[in-house]
Amino acid sequence: MIDNYNRNITYMRVSVTELCNLRCRYCMPEEGIAKKAHEDMMTAEETIMAVKAAARLGIRKIRVTGGEPLVKRGIVKLCGAISHIPGIEEVCMTTNGTLLPRFAKELKAAGVSRLNISLDTLDEEKYRHITRMGELKDALAGLEAAEQAGFCETKINCVLMGGFNDDEIPRFAELTRNRPIEVRFIELMPIGGGIGFDKAQFVSCETVLEKVPELESLGREDGVARLYAFPEAAGRVGLIRPVSCEFCEGCNKIRLTADGKIKPCLHSAQEISLKGMQEDEMEEALRRAILDKPEKREALDAESPSKAGRDMNQIGG
Ligand code: 5AD
Ligand code: SF4
Repeated sequence: MIDNYNRNITYMRVSVTELCNLRCRYCMPEEGIAKKAHEDMMTAEETIMAVKAAARLGIRKIRVTGGEPLVKRGIVKLCGAISHIPGIEEVCMTTNGTLLPRFAKELKAAGVSRLNISLDTLDEEKYRHITRMGELKDALAGLEAAEQAGFCETKINCVLMGGFNDDEIPRFAELTRNRPIEVRFIELMPIGGGIGFDKAQFVSCETVLEKVPELESLGREDGVARLYAFPEAAGRVGLIRPVSCEFCEGCNKIRLTADGKIKPCLHSAQEISLKGMQEDEMEEALRRAILDKPEKREALDAESPSKAGRDMNQIGG
């Protein structure tokens, strides 16, 4: 469906849970989050109805997110149901990867086509620090499991944090020389746990090009990522600049939270609830949400944090 600013909205991110088995500092509070009442969350049936309604309005691509989607009970079945909805051409998932050794094969069989795996450091100690409780080997085993299960074009999401992982940029980029993966460097956003970060930790994606001058622009984009690669490399590097560059003009997505709220814009507090509705009502609410999508977001930097009004695990990365 075309919105009021001539953008074709074809992509919906569907958060299936706010819960996570990690506590990344830029995302969630240390103590985790108060588990919301079960009856306030979308049931699997409601989520499927919402995707059906969205598909009727022209949504073609779904990204399943969380929290961590793989901690959600019945996640494989839910992905399978979503992938069979008429009109849905692609189902992807963003995961921290740690549970992929258990689920990768089943997800592939259920029709999930591609995975984005969050990985901000290749150092065991630093991984423990940034996730507050995770083990690097689990995430790496997940990456391996994705490959084994036959997933192609897997992406690694690496949130850039000055003084934390900017020294690892070359090492991350090197992963793309021999492997057909995309390493995506994402600017830290002042949203969720990111709001408490020091100004100096917000480094721009330009740093990547300064630290790895060998990278050549591929002159094209993949969603919100601008693509680069080493000459003759198997993989590529994506730069995602939510802070230093606005991509509102080309934004083709809406978000559905695990408690049933449509967020037309990540950085706005505006939410439209679908919880408890029938499919037709959901379609009407989705139509209104798309027409309500703002033209662009407000200022976003260390001094002007996001107006999202929720942590990232409550929105869906
Ligand atoms: N800044 C940038 N990206 C974030 N994510 C979560 N919180 C932030 C933040 N403050 C993204 C990361 C992660 C995904 C689940 O959500 O890319 O990989
Ligand atoms: Fe969990 Fe992802 Fe948030 Fe980390 S970024 S705490 S893995 S939801």
